[in-house]
Amino acid sequence: VKVKILPDKVNASEEVAQTLHDLIVEKPNAVIGVATGSTPELAYELLAEKIKEHNTDVSQLQFFALDEYIGLPWDHPESYHAVINRTVTVPLGVEPSQVHVPEAPDDATEGPVRYYDEHIEAAGGIDLQLLGIGRNGHIGFNEPGTPFDAPTHVGRLTDMTRQDNSRFFDSVDEVPPLAVTQGIGTILKSRKAILMAFGEAKADAIRDSLAQPPAEDRPGSGLQLHSDCVFYLDEAAAAKVD
Ligand code: F6R
Repeated sequence: VKVKILPDKVNASEEVAQTLHDLIVEKPNAVIGVATGSTPELAYELLAEKIKEHNTDVSQLQFFALDEYIGLPWDHPESYHAVINRTVTVPLGVEPSQVHVPEAPDDATEGPVRYYDEHIEAAGGIDLQLLGIGRNGHIGFNEPGTPFDAPTHVGRLTDMTRQDNSRFFDSVDEVPPLAVTQGIGTILKSRKAILMAFGEAKADAIRDSLAQPPAEDRPGSGLQLHSDCVFYLDEAAAAKVD
């Protein structure tokens, strides 16, 4: 893992947006893995500005979201179908058919959801996977204890993750307890991965992700097994990195 520490979130998001734009110019049919949550929102906005400014061709891109809650209808504003539509599809000016989000039927239970990995492979594999990280170190919804070789699967959210995500809902009870998520095994197959983390609440998770050796109770540490992964951190998230 390479670590880049920038003065703040704006600088870090600008570098990530530039990296994404460079990839899109170089490879107009790139396959991009997108995360939801607050962390990547500014990078998506800055990328949208660059696409407008340079009139960049986005018609051949493909996007794959990391995860989706089980139990929210697609038109619920906090379903990741809706969030990705609002933060990626519309601002970047791509067609909904270019953007894939895992299907998460109400009756899905624990276990692998392999069609999504097959779909990613059929698209040529992910060129660049964007990631955020939870306070407990989760990536996607791979909570502590998830095997590093897990494919896309149904996972159970921890109480901490539901509590953290309750800011998007009226109450914690409304945050679904289950989600379909790309596995760490899926994420490790991407050709390049970028993890962004901002703010002091993420400092422990970043320290634990970089602590040797990688261990499944610290999901972010699985990224040490990735051949090309860069962490973009602000000073606060990097505060506990040696
Ligand atoms: C989002 C996702 C999660 C978030 C993480 C951090 O698709 O899979 O792993 O990246 O929960 O969330 P924020 O960015 O809101 O702090």
